[in-house]
Parts: sequence; structure tokens; C-alpha cells
Amino acid sequence: MSENQPFQLLPLISEEQIKNRVEKLADQIAADFGGFELLVIGLLTGSFIFMADTVRALHRRGIKTWIDFIRVESYGMESASNGKVEMKYPLSSPIESRHVLLVDDILDTGYTLQFVKKYVQQKNPKVLKTCVLLDKPSRRKVSIQPDYVGFQVPDAFIVGYGLDYQYQFRELPGLFIVSFENPKSGFTP
Ligand code: IMP
Ligand code: MG
Repeated sequence: MSENQPFQLLPLISEEQIKNRVEKLADQIAADFGGFELLVIGLLTGSFIFMADTVRALHRRGIKTWIDFIRVESYGMESASNGKVEMKYPLSSPIESRHVLLVDDILDTGYTLQFVKKYVQQKNPKVLKTCVLLDKPSRRKVSIQPDYVGFQVPDAFIVGYGLDYQYQFRELPGLFIVSFENPKSGFTP
């Protein structure tokens, strides 16, 4: 994806579909963690909207959550990581013996989640589960299976609901494919 190539956004998953799926995921998470307080760790920046909706859905199910964030950066092509992940903003909460839910926007090659999972695991949580809004299994480079997945998506670049393309479109309520093939068939919000 070169920087100035024209593109359009094609609708993939609607706001309503996301809303329904988040409720279902919260049911699953609440069933697994019910009765425990949960430390929810989001990967900045892409997870911020999904995480906000998820913790409020958990609250409606009587689960108390604590919030923290981690920022990592991967190096390589702008939209695909090459396996080198660096910690930019580490965890500030103590997590030993706590129930932890790690949340990311999208699982692509898997390098990012693998790196962060290992980092968190080394701090000895009692339970560590992973939750991603989107899973692109066709692009996986490492063997990693998240505990909770919102949607499986095709091998395309996706924006909206927290995910960006060149720092744009995080605020869109639905999810869209960035399409370079038929620049006239979609729309640019
Ligand atoms: P991974 O390390 O290849 O699994 O990459 C995961 C990270 O790459 C995600 O946290 C996103 O920040 C970014 N990413 C991968 N695919 C997409 C996409 O389709 N849209 C937006 N960001 C993406
Ligand atoms: Mg990310």
C-alpha cells in the first residue's frame, strides 16, 4: 500500500453487528470470569473503542474491571509487522495473581500478541486470556489462538471502530475494507 494511492472504503461489518457481537463476547467472558475482578489490558491505540464497549458490557453483567494499557511498535512495512516488536509503554499495574484479559483490535501475523502475551505472562497473572475484535487467520505467521474473537475477516486492510489506515478512520462506528481496486465503488467518509 503506497501512501498516495487512491482508495475507497467498502462496508464490511456494521455498527449494529459489532454491538451484537460485543454483547455475546461479554456473555462468554462473564461466564468464564464471573465472581472475579478483571484487569483489562488494552493494546494502544487500536483497541481503545472495542475495549471501552467491552468493559461497559462486562459492567452490565456485574463484573468489576480495572484498566491498563500497553503500547508496542512493530517494525517493517507500514501495515504488516515483520516479527520485531518493541515495548514503548509498559504496564503500570501489578498483575501478579490477578485475572487478566488482554485486548487487541486485530490479530494479523500474530507477532504483536505473541510478544505481549509473553511479556504479561512473565509477570505471573493468575489467569491470562486474550481477546481480539478481528482475526485474519490467513495471514498468521506464528501459532497463536486467542480465547475470544469478535469476527474472522478476510485478508484485507480494515479500518474503523478504533483501527486506522495512515492514522485515519479510527472514529468510524462500523468496520470498512480499504479498497485500492475499485476506487469508485465504495465511499470516502
Ligand atoms: P500482527 O503483529 O501482525 O498480528 O499485527 C497486529 C497489529 O497490526 C494490530 O494491532 C494492528 O495495529 C495492525 N494491523 C494489522 N492488520 C490491520 C488492519 O487490517 N487494519 C488496521 N491495523 C492492522
Ligand atoms: Mg494495534
